[in-house]
Amino acid sequence: MAFFGAPLNPPLRDWTGRWVWIIGASSGIGRATAAALHREGARVIVSARQAPALADFVRGHPGCVALPLDVGDAQALRAAALQVQGQAGPQGLALVLYCAGHYRAQSATAFDLAEMQQHLAVNYGGVLHLLAAVLPQLLSAGRGHLSLVGSVAGYRGLPMSLAYGPTKAALNNLAENLYLDLHPRGIGVSIINPGFVQTPLTAQNAFPMPALISADEAAERMLQGWARGRFEMNFPRRFTAWVRLLRCLPDAWYFAAVRRTTGA
Ligand SMILES: NC(=O)c1ccc[n+]([C@@H]2O[C@H](COP(=O)([O-])OP(=O)(O)OC[C@H]3O[C@@H](n4cnc5c(N)ncnc54)[C@H](OP(=O)(O)O)[C@@H]3O)[C@@H](O)[C@H]2O)c1
Repeated sequence: MAFFGAPLNPPLRDWTGRWVWIIGASSGIGRATAAALHREGARVIVSARQAPALADFVRGHPGCVALPLDVGDAQALRAAALQVQGQAGPQGLALVLYCAGHYRAQSATAFDLAEMQQHLAVNYGGVLHLLAAVLPQLLSAGRGHLSLVGSVAGYRGLPMSLAYGPTKAALNNLAENLYLDLHPRGIGVSIINPGFVQTPLTAQNAFPMPALISADEAAERMLQGWARGRFEMNFPRRFTAWVRLLRCLPDAWYFAAVRRTTGA
C-alpha cells in the first residue's frame, strides 16, 4: 500500500517538447494553464468554441495549435482527437486536461430544465465525449495523464448550486473510477477542485468570494500538483481545507453551518 503523501501518479515535471491538449482553453483557468505549460516548454493544443480567442492565444504562444470545438458534439471530439494524435506523433500526449465548464446560479425554487441540461452537457457529457475519443489512444500508448477540473462545489450541496454542484460531484466520482481502471495501465488520472478563481465564470457572482485567487495562481497550483503526482488537487488550501472539513460533518450540522455562513 502506498504511504500517505506518496505520489499517486507518475510525476509530470519536465514539459519540454511534450504535447498537451486542453479543452476549455479560450479563457480563465484553461487559458492560464495553457500559458503556464507553454512557458515550461510544452506544445499546447487549445480547444473551446471561440475560435478567435484560440487563434489569439496561438499567435502569442508559438508552437501551440488551435482546435476549435463544442464539447457537446461527440463527432467533433473524435475528429479532434485524431488530429491531436497526428500532431503529437509517436511520443503521444503527455496530458489531456478537461477544463470546459458552465455555471449559472440555480435553485429548486426556480427550476430551469434547459439550464440543468446545459450544465450536464458541458460539465459531464463533454467529458464522456472526450473519454470515448481519447481512451483508445491513451490505452494503446500505455502512458499519458488525464485531468478533470471539478470544483469544491462538488463536495456537498450548496445554495444556488443545484445545476452545477451535481455535475462536479459526478466528476469527482468519475475520476476515482478512472484512476482505479487506468493507473494499472500506466495512465495518470487527477481531479482538480478549485475554490474561487477570478475568471469570466465567477465574474457573474455578486457576493464577495472568499480566498479568491487569480487564474495564473490556479495554473501554478495545478503545475505543482502534476509535478507531485497528486490525484486530487484543491486550492487555495486556506479555503479548501475548511470546505473539506465540512464534508465530514453530520448532515444536521452541515446544513446549519451552510445556512449560517451563506444566509440561505
Ligand atoms: N472560476 C472558479 O472559481 C472555478 C472554481 C471551481 C471550478 N471551476 C471550473 O474551472 C473550469 C474553467 O472555468 P473558468 O472559471 O476558467 O471559466 P471560463 O473562463 O468561463 O472557462 C470556461 C471554458 O469552458 C469553455 N466551454 C464552455 N462551454 C463549452 C462548450 N460547449 N464546448 C467547448 N468549450 C466550452 C469556454 O470556452 P468557449 O466559451 O470558447 O467555448 C471556456 O474556455 C470549469 O470547469 C469550472 O467549472 C472554476
